[in-house]
Order: sequence, then structure tokens, then C-alpha cells
Amino acid sequence: MKALSLLLIAALGVSGAFAVDRNNFKTCEQSGFCKRLRAFKPEKSQYTLNVDSVFVHGNVFSAEVVTVDLEKKNILWRYALRLSALADGTFRVEMDEADPLYPRYRTQIALEDEPKGDGLKLISQENGKLTLANTQGHKVIITTEPLKIEFVDHTGEVAVVLNENSQLVVEPLRVKTEKIGEDDEQGNAVEEPEGTWGENFKGHHDSKSRGNEGVSLDVAFPGANHVYGIPEHTDNFYLKTTTSGEPYRLYNLDVFEYELDSPMAIYGAVPVLYSHSAKRSSGVFWHNSAETWVDIVNYSEGNVVSSLVNFVTGGQKQRVDARFISESGIVDIFVLLGEKPADVFRQYTTLTGVAPIPPKFSLAYHQSRWNYNDEADVRAVDDGFDQHDIPADTLWLDIEYTDKKKYFTWDVERFRHPTEMVANLTAKGRKLVVIIDPHIKREAGYFVHEDCTEKGYYVKNKDGNDYEGWCWPGSSSYPDFFNPEVTKYYVERYRYENFPGTSKDVHIWNDMNEPSVFNGPEITMPKDCRHWKPPQDGQDGLAAYWEHRHVHNEYGQWYIRATQQGMLARSDGKYRPFILTRSTFAGTQRYAAVWTGDNAAEWGFLQASVPMCISLATAGISFCGSDVGGFFKNPDAELMTRWYQAGAYQAFFRAHSHIETKRREPWLFDATTLARIRDAVRRRYALLDFWYTLFYEHMIDGLPVTRPLFQEFPKEEATFTIDNQYLLGDKLLIRPVLEQGVTSVKLYLPAKETSTLWYDVDSYQVVTANGWINLDVTITKIPVYQRGGTVVPRKERVRRASALMANDPYTLVVALDANNTARGTVYIDDGETYEYRSNKYIYGSFDYQPTAFTYKFINEDANYPTRSWVERIVIAGIKNAPKSAKLVQGGKQTPLQMTLHRGNDVLVVRKPAASMASPWEIQFTY
Ligand SMILES: *[C@@H]1O[C@H](CO)[C@@H](O)[C@H](O)[C@H]1NC(C)=O
Ligand SMILES: *[C@@H]1O[C@H](CO)[C@@H](O)[C@H](O)[C@H]1NC(C)=O
Ligand SMILES: *[C@@H]1O[C@H](CO)[C@@H](O)[C@H](O)[C@H]1NC(C)=O
Repeated sequence: MKALSLLLIAALGVSGAFAVDRNNFKTCEQSGFCKRLRAFKPEKSQYTLNVDSVFVHGNVFSAEVVTVDLEKKNILWRYALRLSALADGTFRVEMDEADPLYPRYRTQIALEDEPKGDGLKLISQENGKLTLANTQGHKVIITTEPLKIEFVDHTGEVAVVLNENSQLVVEPLRVKTEKIGEDDEQGNAVEEPEGTWGENFKGHHDSKSRGNEGVSLDVAFPGANHVYGIPEHTDNFYLKTTTSGEPYRLYNLDVFEYELDSPMAIYGAVPVLYSHSAKRSSGVFWHNSAETWVDIVNYSEGNVVSSLVNFVTGGQKQRVDARFISESGIVDIFVLLGEKPADVFRQYTTLTGVAPIPPKFSLAYHQSRWNYNDEADVRAVDDGFDQHDIPADTLWLDIEYTDKKKYFTWDVERFRHPTEMVANLTAKGRKLVVIIDPHIKREAGYFVHEDCTEKGYYVKNKDGNDYEGWCWPGSSSYPDFFNPEVTKYYVERYRYENFPGTSKDVHIWNDMNEPSVFNGPEITMPKDCRHWKPPQDGQDGLAAYWEHRHVHNEYGQWYIRATQQGMLARSDGKYRPFILTRSTFAGTQRYAAVWTGDNAAEWGFLQASVPMCISLATAGISFCGSDVGGFFKNPDAELMTRWYQAGAYQAFFRAHSHIETKRREPWLFDATTLARIRDAVRRRYALLDFWYTLFYEHMIDGLPVTRPLFQEFPKEEATFTIDNQYLLGDKLLIRPVLEQGVTSVKLYLPAKETSTLWYDVDSYQVVTANGWINLDVTITKIPVYQRGGTVVPRKERVRRASALMANDPYTLVVALDANNTARGTVYIDDGETYEYRSNKYIYGSFDYQPTAFTYKFINEDANYPTRSWVERIVIAGIKNAPKSAKLVQGGKQTPLQMTLHRGNDVLVVRKPAASMASPWEIQFTY
């Protein structure tokens, strides 16, 4: 689910049908701080570092920075600058007021932990420049007047520059003066920019009792020609310049029928940005949870401003700059120095954490609709999958299962026997996912509402009373998860005894957590609402609470964090929870999977799903997918087929649809379409262990599961702008068919220089990389290629749910490289508990050499009693077939049978029957 229904839109007097109503959402010009700070382009920065204040202690460099009136030379304001060297080639720069009127907000739950420090030394100080070095071969050059900070990579080149364009701003907090319009003591008129103490938008007044408190900083990436990141937007993966249009906006919003190819804000905001060129990758993470706008400027040769820039940068040929503008907070930026794409992606997850390995079922196929109406409907859909031989792991219930949108309750007319309903599903190896939203119905007698009211758990409005908004249940309030007591209360709600009908096999979908407020400004919570803050002596008035404006982009994450704690608590930490969220922020990967929200059954939305999820993946959030088939409108058979084929290769694979659309369970399509959908879903199940292994490896190495091509081929310029193709790990290349009615597609096969081989996963037909090719496609499949030199584990006995396949045998697909070798991995555990933490798992490696194919445990201390075995090994690209083969396992030797297929280049080892529970080797003789 879901944005407002059309009915509700009409009721609220909002115009427009199937198109975003842009008027509901601000442009930069309509956002006071964006307009004000975007226009700020001084010749020279006022910010100067006071050399006498410099202090280096441990990994932290600190100094006073002042702003100076450039004419009168007097100090205007004092700031505290901290620069820390961190592990893994990262630096952090923080700048706050030295003595703010009251504390400014520091984002709280984006970072997983306090980042680890690295050594830092001040190595020289001359001519107004300070040079610092970490222990990893990076340097930082600080120019003191005006302040500029350059980060030098290990090759000695400047990779990132802060304040190159003098757009650093920290607007100091001030007391509201009563004397606006009058003269001050010096006889100057007291002026305040319009909107300093209040702004209006579409009939909503924002009281702004703290005045202007914006922050801004420009970041230059010398040598870069492309930048990426800052999801969530519907644009290309590579970001476009914003010089002649709107900046990219980061402000979590419930945008009804969001627009494609747009820098507008939607549900998520992850303020990490990467630059890339053939030479290097670097990045910055803007650690701020307030509304943020990001400008992208291209200073490369051939652009209008290049003459100016060549002067500034000493003749740099290429440079892309970004500028972050936030409504509040402090300047807090992490500089990631790469040098390769994989390094910057990892540096980011080192800070914000990785996704813990999800329960295995959650990587399988999900069936959802707003709504499955009652128990009989659930049973019919569940049976439908069996009757039509389509595997499925979950059924989902949207908001209508509740008693009038009161979460943690059931509509007892339609869902009389939830426990039995769930038992019926689990008997088949399936699970249930139910929705729980953050808005709480304000209804007398509803226990959650009564508890929250009594205990003061709701977010407060600007006057300190419980904030009331309008959402699915009607009049609603929103628990304030910033208060640990509220989180504790909410955690308890998920206990099986408190939420009857639930069990370890019922998982949770958190929607509307931007938060969505139908009658709020921009369909969200007013910025002057108040959030809890730990009480501290002497902090009252404005210092006693945070405003929603400070924390907005983080709110949804506090919510899913509480849900995760609740789901862990309900099983005493035994079972891994699955949570789906719509709102995202930096660090969301630690809690939940994400979907791209309310899309439509249109080809453009299918296309957009690929860059949207790749962008999120590079921002830590690999567990991403889109509503298969499109949420709004009715897909035709071709679109439905293509969406299933694409979805089968996206991490989160769920069909979902709006309440007003036609029913579209796969068997409601014609028999041919049904067969194609079945085939797409079965392909997913065959690869489930491969997906599961990739998610395990993400947990270990922090890298995206779904990868842009340039992550693996960073020097290959053609890949920098490809966003309709991507990789699963470093092994499979996916090119979903995203275009209507096509009989061929353009496909890029990378790594020509190393003569990389790419194998069609069905035919094992091999193509030697040669850049762009035109490839014929039919409606029955999409191009998927296995990279030569890899081994992919498959399970080909597809059953009705993944749990039933746990002990099934493997088929190992060995795709040889030009040297006739290949490598791969497999991860096996119980699929649902945390016992992997006590070494109850197998992480195995496959190594194929012409003389032997070897399976070993990467961690020899770990083991898992799997009953899976190897039923087939397919070796594709074989040039010289061995005469005989034998299996060596546990001191036993068994001769094996082999057959040659296709043009004698595919060798199949039949039934080696090797157990996966211990290492083995297959030896070949020629
Ligand atoms: C910047 O301009 C250069 C030269 O025109 C171009 O190659 C590059 O793709 C542009 N980059 C961006 C981010 O627009
Ligand atoms: C559970 O399954 C049984 C057997 O098919 C059926 O009779 C019963 O109605 C189901 N219960 C629910 C609540 O769906
Ligand atoms: C083949 O082996 C050579 C020598 O070890 C190595 O340099 C080359 O990169 C390998 N080629 C491939 C495609 O792996």
C-alpha cells in the first residue's frame, strides 16, 4: 500500500487523478531555507580558521572557525570545527556553533556505532595551510583563510574538496528580536529576512520558533565525471546536473502517483553521494535528518563555467560538484576516499551498518494485495498457488484485516480464526505478513490510543498538546519513538500474547512511516511538532524538545527500529524478523527491506524500478523491490509477464495491487501468460540459495548484492551510465526487458580486455565480451548471463515454498573462464534463527581447476548438518573433456559418470551424490 485513494483525494479537495499533484509539494523557491541558501553564492567565504586554536588529540583535529565581516574585519560568529580520521579511509568533518543558544540536533540512529578512529598527525603548517595525514596514506590540506578542506588520495591527487565554492553556511541560532523595523544601538535598521520566524505553504503555517537554522556545504570532486546516490528519486542512477532546474530533494513524503524522471522527494532519503571516474571513486555522507536539497553542478570542460573553473582548480579537465542544503542540524559530513567503487560502498556501510542475513523465506516470492478480504479469500489464493503449481512463500494482509484500522487488532467478522489461518499457511511452509502503520486511531476504548494518551506517548503539536492528523483510521496521532519509554511500550505490543493470532511465522509490513498525514503540509507532519528529548538540567523552553523539522527523515527509521526490537523480543531473540518499510534513511538496511512505493502498471515504472533499487543498494539497502505488476492501474499480459521476469531478479520480489484494481493473481491471466509467470517465479526459487549466499556475503563485506556494472568494471566508461542492467554479486548479469513489444534489446557485456566470457544461463551459449551487442529476445525470457570463471549453486526441484526445499539437492553451474577455471561460494544454515552466530552454518567455496573441482569450508570452525547433496554439476565452456572423474569425500572414492552436451562444450557430471555437509573433491583424469 498505498497513497490516498481517489475517493479520499476528492474528499480532501485535492485535485488530480493519475498524476502527481505537484502543487502539494514545495519547490526550492517555496521552501524558505532552500531559496535563501541556494541564492548564497559569495565571491569569497567568510569562514576562517583561527590557527592559534588548532589542537590535535588522538584522531581528532579541532580548531575554532570564525566568520568575519569582510569589510569591517570584525568577528561575526564563532564555530567549533572537528576533523576526525576514521578507520577504512574515511574522514569526518563536524562544524557546530561554538556556543549555540541551545543545542542543535545531531542525527541519532543513522550510524550503527561510534565510528572507529584511525591515527591522525599534523605534518606541516605553513603559508596559511595545515597538512594532516592518517595512517592509510591519505592527506588533508586545510587552507585557513578562507576555510577550505582538501582530501588527497593515496596517489597524491585531490579527490574531494569542501567549501571550494564558498558555500559553507551555518546559520547561527538567535533570539527573536522585538525590534524588527526599528533601529539598533548603532543606528542600523533591524532587519530579518522574510519568513525567518514563520512560513506558510498551502494554508499551513510553520511557526519556526527558532528562526533560521540552515546549514549548507559544497563538495567538489575533481576529476569526476559522474555522481550517484542520494536515493530515493525516480531519476536515472547517475545524477543529472540541476543548474537549470530543481535540486534533488530529500524529504520523506507520501507522494500520490509519483512522477518519473524527477528530482522530487518521495518516501526515502539517504544522503550519501558517490563520484566516479575511471581513475577513482570517492564519496560523501551528509549526516543530517532534516529536509535537504542537493544541487549537482558540472564544471567539466565544454560547460559554460569551465574557464572560471580551470582557473580555480588549476586546469582540472573534469569536475562535478554537489551542494547540500539542509534546514537545520550541524555540518556533519563523512568523506569516503575510495579508491574503487566497492571501497566507497563498503566505507559507507562501515558507518551505517549492513543488513543482517534475512530469514530465507523473505528472499522468495511474496503475494500481496490491498486486500485479501477474509479467511476464505486467503485460503483460495493460497490454494491457487498449489493448483497452478507456482511457488509462493507468503501471503500479505493490507490494512483491511484490522478492526477499523486499529493496529494490533483483527476485523473479527472477516478474520475470525487468525491462528488457524496462519497454521494452515505454515502447514504448507508458508508465512503471513501483516501491515502495521504508525498512525494510531483516536478512538475511545482503543487500548493503544488510551495508553498513549494517558502516558503522554504521542508526538506533540507546537502548543505541546497531542498532535492530531488524518490518516487511514480518520483522526490519528503518532507515537513518539524518540522517547525510549514509547519504544518499550510499542515493543511489547508485538508479543504473541499481545497480538493474538501472530506467531513466529507472522511478519510485519510498516507503511506510511514518512510519516504520512493526509491533511498535513505536504501530506506529512508539521515541522513545528515536538519530539521527546532526554530531560537535562537547565534545558527548558526551546531546548527541552526537538522539532519535527530536525528529525523528519529519521522518524520512519525510529519506527521500524521499534518494530524490529518488538519482533526480536517476542521470540526472545531466537528468530530473525522480516520487516518491510516504505520510508528509508541512512541505516535502514539494519532493520528492514524496502519497496519503491505506490507505482503504476506502466512500462515507465517498471523501467524506474531498476535504477531506484540499484541506487538504494549502493546506499546500503540491497533488499529492494517494486510492486510487481504496478500498484495502481491494471497491467496487460505483456507488462505483467515482463514485470515478473524482472522481479524474479530483484531482491524483494512481491506482487501487490491497489484495492480498486482488478484481481490479478497469476491464474487470472490466460494460460500462456500464467505459464510464463510460473516460469519466472520458478527461476527465482532455483536461485534462492544463490541469493541467500549473496545476502550472507553482504553481511560480511558490506557490499551491494545488486550492483551497478561499474562496481565490478570501474575503468570501463560505457558502464558509468548503464542503469537498465546490473549484476547479482559479481556473477550474474541481468538485463530485464523493460520495453513494450520489443524483439531485441541492446546489451552491454563488459570486460573486453580480459576476454571475459558470458554464458546464457539457459543455453550455456557463450559470448566473449565485446561491449554493446544487439540481442534477440522473446517473451519467454530475459537476458541473464553468468560470468565466466564463476560457480552458481542452484536447486532445480522447485516446490511450493522455499522451506520445503531446504534439504533438496544442488545443481552446480560451473562457467569456465578463458583459463578453464571457476570459483564460487554457497552459504547454508537453518534459514530462520540466529544460530549462525554460534557457528551453525556452512560457508563453502567451490574451486574448479581442470584437474579437480573442490568444495571446502571457508570457516572450518562452522558447520551445519545439511542433508543437501549434489545431484548434478554442469561445466560450461569445456574445451578438453576429461576421460574420467571420481569423487573423494570422507576417505571414500567413487567413480562418476559424465556426459557431453551441446557442441561438446558442456560437460555434465551426473549424480555425484556428494554430501554438502563435508568437504569433497572431484578429480578428473584426461
Ligand atoms: C559533465 O560534462 C562532461 C563534458 O560535457 C560530460 O562528459 C559529463 O557526463 C557531464 N557530467 C554530468 C554529471 O553531467
Ligand atoms: C484451514 O484449513 C482447513 C482445511 O482446508 C479448512 O477447513 C479451514 O477452514 C481453514 N481455516 C481457515 C481459518 O482458513
Ligand atoms: C588467466 O591466468 C593468467 C595467469 O595466471 C592471468 O593473468 C589471467 O588474468 C587469467 N585470465 C582470466 C580470464 O582469469
